[in-house]
Amino acid sequence: MAEAKTADLMEKIVSLGKRRGFIYQSSEIYGGINGFWDYGPLGAELKRSLKEQWWNTMTREREDVVGLDATIIMSPKIWEASGHVSTFSDPMIDCKTCKGRFRADQIDEIPCPQKPSKCVKDCHGEKTEPRAFNLMFQTYVGPVQDDSAVAYLRPETAQAIFAQFKNVLDSSRVKVPFGIAQIGKAFRNEVTPRNYTFRSREFEQMELEFFIKPDEAIEAIHGSVATVPAMGHPGEPQPNWGWQAWHQYWVEERVRFYEGIGLPRQTLGFHIQTPEELAHYARATVDILYKFPFSKRDEKGELKGEELEGIAARSDFDLSQHARFSGKPMGVFDDELRAAWGKLPKEKQDDLWRRYFENRKKYLTKSGVENEAASKQATEDANGLAKGQYIPHVIEPSAGADRLALALICNAYSEATETDDKGKSETRVTMKFHPRIAPIKLGVFPLLKNKPELVKKALEVRDLLRPWMNVFYDDGGAIGRRYARQDEAGTPFCVTVDFDTLGEKGPELKDTVTLRHRDDGRQERLPISELRDWLLTRIR
Ligand code: GAP
Repeated sequence: MAEAKTADLMEKIVSLGKRRGFIYQSSEIYGGINGFWDYGPLGAELKRSLKEQWWNTMTREREDVVGLDATIIMSPKIWEASGHVSTFSDPMIDCKTCKGRFRADQIDEIPCPQKPSKCVKDCHGEKTEPRAFNLMFQTYVGPVQDDSAVAYLRPETAQAIFAQFKNVLDSSRVKVPFGIAQIGKAFRNEVTPRNYTFRSREFEQMELEFFIKPDEAIEAIHGSVATVPAMGHPGEPQPNWGWQAWHQYWVEERVRFYEGIGLPRQTLGFHIQTPEELAHYARATVDILYKFPFSKRDEKGELKGEELEGIAARSDFDLSQHARFSGKPMGVFDDELRAAWGKLPKEKQDDLWRRYFENRKKYLTKSGVENEAASKQATEDANGLAKGQYIPHVIEPSAGADRLALALICNAYSEATETDDKGKSETRVTMKFHPRIAPIKLGVFPLLKNKPELVKKALEVRDLLRPWMNVFYDDGGAIGRRYARQDEAGTPFCVTVDFDTLGEKGPELKDTVTLRHRDDGRQERLPISELRDWLLTRIR
């Protein structure tokens, strides 16, 4: 695949996307709308499968994560508290010559609309100075369109999780450390949407906010905070884990997830944010990248990759902001901490108190609170710690469903050219999706369409498996053509009902079918009664 992943590969993928119904341009019949995309029948199934995999992995298969499904429009105060109203902007420049608007930090990559052989930076157009452009889509709630009715389409799903943190804590049987997961739409008025669906204006996020105890609390309870090796999975979560262990754990868990849905580690890249790139409240952020065909290359000519997901250790910033802006407490009471604190030597108490005080004061002053007020509040917070109270810290693995769908499509794309006896060549596309995320899990074919016994049996097989997976029944054309159609859709398995299935060659093959594997064309015979379990172990 590596050599095929060239620039024109993207063109082939975009064309297949439309031809086979993975992705269409939104509002295409009216000329489209830049930065918006629709998913066709195969794309909708693909996206549904990958979101289901994420949801199951992140919530249902874990004891320590619960779900949330919040609204897109929320109180505008949420976006003041989160900082989006004041700082969620990109630098934008206008070109007075072509009237285009571009992200100032990307003008060396974006082609000039009038002279695409040149990038915007090098074209002759007269450009303005960069100015900040807020990416939030604005709307009005209610019939009066004045300032008091302004609201925003959420630019991320995360903030609803913070805003509902207390409700979830009070209404479910969860205790820190625990997480809240959400999948949903997010909207950003990107200055320059590009690279197919990669940077869109409407997209879906899959976000987890995993709340943990501050390191000072861990140290008070367990004597010290666990140290973890710099690389690799730190193993099963332990009670003495601090933010570093949890952060590393989530980075590795997320890589495992990608591997589990068919993106091998070598297709991924990693970017560890530098201190200059990190937000003032963040302790560490690791971006997981996928090496898209349109990714930039490094000095060795290797694809560097583009961000699929960021995993951030965000300290206690988010809950602290919502506590300050809403006036509602976001702290939790930890009886283990309270009991442990009383048993600590005075020196240790003083040391932990001071470190917690300093961290809280740093957050408060960086957030604009005056020095004196910050000291007073930080003293209260540190006194609270001594009584078993703290604001949880958070580790945030935040992924984009649409970027992942695009990565899976790029990764699955494979073509092979065959030449027949007459020298006629045909290039055939196979979408090698992992069975877990393949849009269609199984194709079911009767060998011949004009044999009612075969058709009846094939429909029985379809109906037997339909409650368990997405099955596609096809009786049109030669079997080879039917396989080829399913290969292009990425269907990992196809079964054919033939005369052996009906028992015409003897009882031993009665009620068995031929199962064909997409990637190597291998065929095997399986009893219909075993099909469901055979398939379920491979698609779940
Ligand atoms: N709550 C943290 C947050 O929103 P982000 O890095 O801005 O962080 C997280 O977004 C993920 O959302 C990205 O890694 C990406 O997968 C996806 N995403 C962000 N902007 C996007 C866009 N314009 N189009 C498609 N996906 C996007």
